[in-house]
Amino acid sequence: MAPMSAPVGGTRPLLNRRLASFGTTIFAEMSALAARTGSINLGQGFPDTDGPAEIAEAASRAVLTGLGNQYPPGPGIPELRSAIAEHQQRFYGLPYDPDTEVLVTAGATEAIAASLLALLEPGDEVIALEPYYDSYAACIAMAGATRVPVTLRPHAGAFALDLDELRAAVTPRTRLLLLNTPHNPTGTVLTPAELTAIAELAVDRDLLVVTDEVYEHLVFEGAHLPLASLPGMRERTVTISSSGKTFSFTGWKVGWVTAPPELVSAVRSAKQFLTYVSSGPFQYAIAEALRLPDDYYEGFRADLAAKRGILADGLAAAGFEVFRPRGTYFITTDITPLGEKDGLAFCRALPERCGVVAIPNQVFYDDRAAGATQVRWAFCKKTEVLEEAAARLRRL
Ligand SMILES: Cc1ncc(COP(=O)(O)O)c(C=O)c1O
Repeated sequence: MAPMSAPVGGTRPLLNRRLASFGTTIFAEMSALAARTGSINLGQGFPDTDGPAEIAEAASRAVLTGLGNQYPPGPGIPELRSAIAEHQQRFYGLPYDPDTEVLVTAGATEAIAASLLALLEPGDEVIALEPYYDSYAACIAMAGATRVPVTLRPHAGAFALDLDELRAAVTPRTRLLLLNTPHNPTGTVLTPAELTAIAELAVDRDLLVVTDEVYEHLVFEGAHLPLASLPGMRERTVTISSSGKTFSFTGWKVGWVTAPPELVSAVRSAKQFLTYVSSGPFQYAIAEALRLPDDYYEGFRADLAAKRGILADGLAAAGFEVFRPRGTYFITTDITPLGEKDGLAFCRALPERCGVVAIPNQVFYDDRAAGATQVRWAFCKKTEVLEEAAARLRRL
């Protein structure tokens, strides 16, 4: 028998080595800090107001009438798969067969994990735009693949993709491009010209593409253009979205994948052993939500556009360099004009200094130096909360 003081499992680390470099997410640290200090939390991206009351009622009706209280079908309930297919047709003119080309997941998070676990082999390279949404790096690592960052760099008030750098990052081992547009945390929206160049590269090098478009309804200038709508892309693209952002029910975790049958089938094979199914009654409610009239979608975007203005102005008045986002509900700023050099130290001190919490972008980079002075702020909060945050930040 091992002595009492010996660590369980011997001296080998308990955490799988693929995950060893991924500690607690920054969101957990900063949300705990917000709670402890009573600060305004502009860190984690969740709205402080719930989505439409009639959709909440639809969810409660589903629970009370026994819709989805037991395991729903593995690919998602037919009503929701049809509503997702209708949504892709209605907004983008993209036809998907609800039976073979749509898969419901536990949020976009599971869709990302299942897609990467399904489509990657150890040794494959995945090109992703840096800074990354934090689950990308962990899921690529869990799949045993290697991430190859292409860094979005500040240029003329926005974060820009260098297409030559992207092309140069492709090697014979590259299996997949992992894209995110509108992009969290920078608020960049890839332009039609950039998407066209990416599509040409994917076709030319025969790459699979996984595209995370959870902020598809938060494009403030112009319209969202799904990568799958470009020539040669439908057959090689897994498009991921989620109801959490669009309908302000982030806790319901209803996400989805649209892709051709062979890709959906591969992703479903991984998904069935992750959660099998989830969110039963909420699937019925989101089927209704997706069919809300255009007014809902327009009102949602207009509300967030106004909030973007309030927070962007507040941050500029407080002395930050502001990168005004073209999409998402996040603003990235640079802290250099405030005489600051380290975003992580800045964010850890900010609650004590002025009662506001933000997220240091450097945690979303492999090249930490590239993001050292950037800090992200969420504006999916009530107007009065954003105004109060702006007033507090002016004390800096
Ligand atoms: C880019 C991006 N992808 C995926 C997610 C996760 O979505 P879900 O809550 O549907 O899992 C988020 C949430 O912040 C996100 O910002």
